[in-house]
Amino acid sequence: MSHAEDHEGTRRDFLYYATAGAGAVTAGAAIWPLVHQMNPSADVQALSSIRVDVGGVETGTQISVKFLGKPVFIRRRTQEEIDEALAVELSDLPDPIARNPNITGDVPATDENRALDEAGEWLVMMGVCTHLGCVPLGDGAGDFNGWFCPCHGSHYDTSGRIRRGPAPENLPVPVAEFIDETTIQLG
Ligand code: FES
Repeated sequence: MSHAEDHEGTRRDFLYYATAGAGAVTAGAAIWPLVHQMNPSADVQALSSIRVDVGGVETGTQISVKFLGKPVFIRRRTQEEIDEALAVELSDLPDPIARNPNITGDVPATDENRALDEAGEWLVMMGVCTHLGCVPLGDGAGDFNGWFCPCHGSHYDTSGRIRRGPAPENLPVPVAEFIDETTIQLG
């Protein structure tokens, strides 16, 4: 399979998830009025914050949504995935930084510092390989049961941390928070 075909495949996968995923996406209500005063950047501004309904996301599955033109993976992890992520020694991580802008500073890449909620059930990350930007495959892919980027063979673990391959950094966490029990706001 050529590199270009590979790209196309992952892009199709992403579109499938984006349209068939259980989550519904709505732009932030407060931003909507700005759309009508359209200027070249207004539509971009409108999407600088989106809300994702994750009420239908089953444990052990993930959805992908588009945010700021890029895929975001929202995974509801099983206890097994959480335990596996918690058991990893920091010294085994090629990138020791959490890459989570929701926590101030370059905190260590523990699973607690990457998960969105205290129980560690929800993991939200940009779905963009930190090597050259392909969209990694998910659902337990790769040697560490997390995500795998087939472009050049980067393996990410169940916390989205790079474990093997050329990618230099963990999959970055976007600005995100739960605004009610079933809604995640990105941005
Ligand atoms: S782009 Fe992911 S491994 Fe190269």
